[in-house]
Amino acid sequence: MSTSSNKKINTFHLLNKQSFMLKEKRNAGFRAAEYVEDGMVVGLGTGSTAKHAVEKIGERIRKEGLDIVAIPTSENTKLLAEDFKIPLTTLDEVKKIDITIDGADEVDDEKNLIKGGGGALLREKMVAFESDYEIIIVDPSKMVEKLGVEFDLPVEIIPHWKSSTIRRIEMFGCTSNIRMHKNSIFKTDNHNYIVDCSFDGIDDPEGLSKQLNNIPGVVENGLFIDLADKIIIGKKEGFEEF
Ligand code: A5P
Repeated sequence: MSTSSNKKINTFHLLNKQSFMLKEKRNAGFRAAEYVEDGMVVGLGTGSTAKHAVEKIGERIRKEGLDIVAIPTSENTKLLAEDFKIPLTTLDEVKKIDITIDGADEVDDEKNLIKGGGGALLREKMVAFESDYEIIIVDPSKMVEKLGVEFDLPVEIIPHWKSSTIRRIEMFGCTSNIRMHKNSIFKTDNHNYIVDCSFDGIDDPEGLSKQLNNIPGVVENGLFIDLADKIIIGKKEGFEEF
């Protein structure tokens, strides 16, 4: 484990998330909310972009009487959804999710992602896995040619015997830092730790994801492979989607 990150991008994102590219995030979030229809079970993502979709869905419920139930991917999003009076359910209550709208930290041309900058990657991946249609909403800064060049890959690990797990993770060619919050180790909603792993670009995202998840102390990693169906890139005016 290294003592300081090579890139510091994850910290940058955490600190600047709320104000960075506000219009772009809002345009992406509002566009994605148009895909939601009556009767749907909707996965609600986490982060400063996803929150705009949550807000718009709340507005549609209030103004249009949109009739949905939603599953939040984090405790923060649950609170936000409650504020907007969005009816909630859980993955224990439903068999599938019709549509999920979530953010991402990096997106490549193949719609593969790095997620977990906000620490919610485990529930986000569980929800994405059960979703018929996963919409990812981003500002243009998130689009990359290759994953893992700029952004450290978040990996959620069990706190117990963390050094052994981290040693195993670093054997795949990264240096890493345990994520901190103020002066303490950051804890996920599932009471685990996040290790931010600095790679020199990730050549084989699918292979790496499988290998990381084979380490017993790893709970889940932030590579989302073949899970996204549509990417919406918010612009200052409007959006692009593919
Ligand atoms: C939460 O853990 C993440 O996966 C977020 O979806 C991701 O970090 C994007 O967040 P922003 O929209 O705030 O950049």
